[in-house]
Amino acid sequence: MRARAGKPGRLITFEGIDGAGKSTHASACAEWLRAQGFTVVLSREPGGTPLAESIRERFLVDETDAQTEALLVFAARSDHLARVIRPALARGDWVVLDRFTDSSVAYQGGGRELGTAAVEALEAWLHPDLKPDRTYLFDVDPAEAARRRSQAREADRFEAESVAFFARVRAAYLARRDGDPARFLVLDASQAPARVRELLLSDLAGQVRTW
Ligand code: TYD
Repeated sequence: MRARAGKPGRLITFEGIDGAGKSTHASACAEWLRAQGFTVVLSREPGGTPLAESIRERFLVDETDAQTEALLVFAARSDHLARVIRPALARGDWVVLDRFTDSSVAYQGGGRELGTAAVEALEAWLHPDLKPDRTYLFDVDPAEAARRRSQAREADRFEAESVAFFARVRAAYLARRDGDPARFLVLDASQAPARVRELLLSDLAGQVRTW
């Protein structure tokens, strides 16, 4: 079923505040698409290339200002786009990303209060022509997400942020959804993971049919 002649691939992104459970679902999505016969590139941001992964390593540890954070994630994204994402889409592959530019709008724009306009200016510079075909936004109350994170592994500097920070991140995500509602499916991540998966895969099957 892969790479119908001349047909570009599809870009599917997974978004949400830390603790919403999106990474597990991104892997399940890639697995399901592969079972349908598609060639899938599963990747994450920041990351996905050696350079972007080294940026990620420092990014998750070093305290800095909001503007530097935004420039770092877009530097990582630029390399990822050039070396992995765009070539894969051009081959007709499906690209499944655990976070993309909506994360920058939500975390740097909202959480760090840099503002949406600054982040969208970087987006317009780096990839004016490219937006995800479908974005799954895992939405959960920030206090519930904090409770889940406390049961998981040791927190990085984002995961250790306050409930107020994540409330701003969540609000920025939802505002971004309001600006482009057709692209997003918001999934209530407080439901049982099996139910979330069911909703996600049934939507994905619909995406495949329209491809
Ligand atoms: P995350 O994707 O949650 O990975 P893990 O599951 O391994 O913790 O971690 C990446 C962190 O980076 C997350 O806290 C959000 C943050 N981030 C930004 O602040 N801006 C961005 O543009 C991206 C892609 C991520």
